[in-house]
Amino acid sequence: MPPDEDCRRCRLGDGRNNIVLPCGHLDSYVVLVGEAPGAKEDLEGVPFVGRAGKILNGLMAEAGLDRGKVMITNTVKCRPPGNRRPKAEEMAACRPFLQEELKGKRFILALGLSAAEDLLGKKMVMKEVCNRPVQADLGHGNVTIVVTYHPSACIYRPAAKDVLRNALKMAASYL
Ligand code: URA
Repeated sequence: MPPDEDCRRCRLGDGRNNIVLPCGHLDSYVVLVGEAPGAKEDLEGVPFVGRAGKILNGLMAEAGLDRGKVMITNTVKCRPPGNRRPKAEEMAACRPFLQEELKGKRFILALGLSAAEDLLGKKMVMKEVCNRPVQADLGHGNVTIVVTYHPSACIYRPAAKDVLRNALKMAASYL
């Protein structure tokens, strides 16, 4: 079940315009999990339609991954004020919705450390864990999880861009 339209499970509900629900092919085996909606996503109610979304779209195209063939979602469905990272308690409050979205998925690409830490329940160092598939059971059987850079981290970092593009290629190979 998605959140109620007046969801107040955490304080992020206070400032939102829209709850940002998953987009793309909702029944795909492959899901990309971002951090949290930004300003444009909050206005349009769709994940990754702003600046980070443009970077993601470009890299997906280069990786041969069709945006319409995967599900795209976020750890939290409401925009944190000032685009700060979502707090652990906000991710925990939204977790039942993410959990439901992940049913039936076989490959999860965690975009950035917020998503990675929410999914895997531990702190990580990106350069130590990126693009190394791990197996985990998040409650619906075994899935492959790949942690990689968030598109925003790629803005001035070509090396991070290469890593994210390679992770998107891994996702493409699961389709
Ligand atoms: N950043 C995210 O993590 N998710 C979005 O939907 C947009 C920007």
